[in-house]
Amino acid sequence: MASKKLLEMLNDQYNFELESAYVYLAMAADSTNKGLDGTAHWMQLQAQEEIEHAMKFYEFIADMDGDVSQKAIPEPKNEYDSLLEIMETALAHEKIVTANIYELANKAQEEGCFDTLEFLNWFFMEQREEENTLKPYVQRLKAIGDNMIEVFRFDAELGQREDD
Ligand SMILES: [Fe+2]
Ligand SMILES: [Fe+2]
Repeated sequence: MASKKLLEMLNDQYNFELESAYVYLAMAADSTNKGLDGTAHWMQLQAQEEIEHAMKFYEFIADMDGDVSQKAIPEPKNEYDSLLEIMETALAHEKIVTANIYELANKAQEEGCFDTLEFLNWFFMEQREEENTLKPYVQRLKAIGDNMIEVFRFDAELGQREDD
């Protein structure tokens, strides 16, 4: 059994995954405005993934006899100065998600809620993957700097992302 507090924390993360989708959609739209269609495509897929994450929480909370409730989603940053700023913001956002998952796991462990710990296992792996994808993007964009030809080349690579 999960405590009321743990279920609330799971519900907060459910909402935060939706917020993540919102953040990535804002990045997608801003990228479209800047002619960075590859990045827009990448960010749209990323947003879809975040909705899938949210649904994992939704289903788990329901399985645990908890209440899924929808909270207000804050307005994300809608305009960025550069693709580097977008990727840095995305990486910082994913680090918050990772910290949230750790916090959830600590609470679940404290309560001996093995169901929640087992559920969270997948997210540890996912968060490693998210951070390890974004880190080299940030490094590469720092190296590229103001060279827009290279920025557009990188954008074209992001456009190759397939639904995964
Ligand atoms: Fe996520
Ligand atoms: Fe994510």
